[in-house]
Amino acid sequence: MSRFNNAVQSCPSEEMKTLLAAAAHAALTAGAIIRELYDKPHTIKMKGEIDLVTEADVAAETAIIASLREDAPDDIAVMAEESFDETTEPGKGRTWVIDPLDGTTNFAHNIPLFAVSIALVENRQPELGVIYCPMQDELFVTSRGGGAWLNDRKIRVTETDFLVQSLVATGFPYDIRDHLNQILEQTRSVLPKVRDIRRCGAAAVDLAYVACGRFDGFWEMALKPWDTAAGCLLVKEAGGRVTDFLGQQYTPFKKEILATNTRLHTLLLDLIA
Ligand code: IPD
Ligand code: CA
Ligand code: CA
Repeated sequence: MSRFNNAVQSCPSEEMKTLLAAAAHAALTAGAIIRELYDKPHTIKMKGEIDLVTEADVAAETAIIASLREDAPDDIAVMAEESFDETTEPGKGRTWVIDPLDGTTNFAHNIPLFAVSIALVENRQPELGVIYCPMQDELFVTSRGGGAWLNDRKIRVTETDFLVQSLVATGFPYDIRDHLNQILEQTRSVLPKVRDIRRCGAAAVDLAYVACGRFDGFWEMALKPWDTAAGCLLVKEAGGRVTDFLGQQYTPFKKEILATNTRLHTLLLDLIA
C-alpha cells in the first residue's frame, strides 16, 4: 500500500478509498506483466489497417479485470478496450473504464513509453483514476477532490503563462486520413507559437505529463473513453483545465480533448478551434 498510501488517504470517501486502492493494485499488476513481456518477441495482430494489438494488451486486460473482480464489488460494469463491444456502452452507473496498454505502437516497436490506464466512471464522469508507466515505474493516482499524485507525492501543472515558453503535446488518431487536414492546420497554427511539440504515442501518458508539469498542454481528436478517462481527472485535480475544442465541459465520451495548465487554455483553444 506504500506506493499509493497518501493518494488513497486523501480520497474523500471511505468507499472510494477501497476502489482507488483496487485500481492502483490492478494497474501495478498489469504493469508488471507488460514489463515482463517487453523484451520478448511480440505477437502483433492488426485491428485495422494501422491499429495494433499485442499479446501484452490482452494479458494486461485479463489481469486487470481479474484483479478488480477480486478487490472491488462485482456490480461495477467494465468497459475495457480489448473486450469492448458497442452494446456495452456505459449508462449512468459505475463503470471501470480500462486501457490495458495505452501506447501499443510504442510497445510493439520497443519504445519504452506506454501506460496502463484505469478509471472509475459514474454518471459518465471519472471519480478516480490511475495511470501506470511500467518502464519508468511511475504511478499516477487521482480521485475527485483528492488531488493528483505521482509515486505518492502531490503533483501540479506548470505555471507557464506564455506560449513561447510552453512545451505541448499532441497525438494522431489511427484514422488519421479522415482528420488529416484539421490535424495539419492545428499543427501549422500551434508550432510557430510554442517552444516545441511532442508526439509521445500514448494519450494517457500525455495527460499524466500535463498533470505533473512536464507538458504545458495536450490536445488530440478521435480519442476513445479509455484513452482519457483517468488522465482528464488527473489533470483537473492537478490544477489544470480540460475541455473539448469548443471550450465546453469535457467528458471521456467526447472525442476531442484539450488539457492545459489552465493559464494557457484560452490561448491554445484559439489556435486549435
Ligand atoms: C493510442 C495512443 C496514441 C493516440 C491514439 C490512441 P492505444 O492508444 O493513445 O497516443 O494518438 O489516438 O488510440 O491504441 O495505443 O491504446
Ligand atoms: Ca489508448
Ligand atoms: Ca490500448
